[in-house]
Amino acid sequence: MTLSHDAPSPESERSTVSTAPGGNRAPIGIFDSGLGGLSVLRAISAQLPHEALVYVADSLHAPYGLRDNAFISERTLAIGAWLVSQGAKALVVACNTATAESIALARERLAIPIIGVEPGIKPAASQSKSRIAGVLATQVTLRSERFRSLIERHAADCRFICQPGHGLVEAVERCEIDTLEVRALLARYIDPMLAAGADTLVLGCTHYPFLDAAIRELAGGRLALVDTSAAIAKQLERVLEAQGLRAPPDRQPAAPRLCSTDEGRHMRQLASTLLGLDAPVEKVSITTHGTSPGCSYVA
Ligand code: DGL
Repeated sequence: MTLSHDAPSPESERSTVSTAPGGNRAPIGIFDSGLGGLSVLRAISAQLPHEALVYVADSLHAPYGLRDNAFISERTLAIGAWLVSQGAKALVVACNTATAESIALARERLAIPIIGVEPGIKPAASQSKSRIAGVLATQVTLRSERFRSLIERHAADCRFICQPGHGLVEAVERCEIDTLEVRALLARYIDPMLAAGADTLVLGCTHYPFLDAAIRELAGGRLALVDTSAAIAKQLERVLEAQGLRAPPDRQPAAPRLCSTDEGRHMRQLASTLLGLDAPVEKVSITTHGTSPGCSYVA
């Protein structure tokens, strides 16, 4: 594992990327609290088919949206360091919650380019005609400083109705994407947005794109859904390009390496049904040694 202690900086300014032993042939590490980041992996596979991908789902500890900041930072650093130890040349934090709480620290500690995800406030603000948009995200994301400043920067003239999606991450983790319970939760969260005149809904958690069919059925075409996965894949492409880290175009596309901190049954099921990906899931043990008082977790 390679650690650096330089000041946080944008990916394009970093110069420590040569630490990935495989150079441009090294894999890209992707992680999420659980299965949601597979929606980002899907977009990355489509945009960058020649890249090798290693995905870690921290399903043993999902949802992060109910955890405290120290826990989320500890897990982000431990999983990021593990992916670096597996040779990752770049890291995608495919979790809005982990990005909101810990991306600055991860950029400070891990010597590879790091791409985070955040709710699509900017695209929602530019496309909403009614100037009212809903945002579904975890409580941690909605309460974060990063989210507040995102709203401030991009949406001064747009009203955002922010709703924590309690219970939705857990449902996706159980591979329940269209059950009566999920529909009832979605109706509870989305009906008030529709009643308030929202015409756009930001999916501010990477688990939620897997609920898009249920959301579309409920909203009946009245809401444009904003999912940033494709934009993240393009941003990753730009960063790799700028750092000379793109995989060679003659490299044969291969199935991603899927890893989970739990037994991985649901990951296999979701990857197969929603991504058409029949790949084995490795169980990995990623231990967190607390760096904050009172934090020590074993996966
Ligand atoms: N996929 C994560 C996100 O984008 C879910 C967080 C959670 O585990 O609560 O925020």
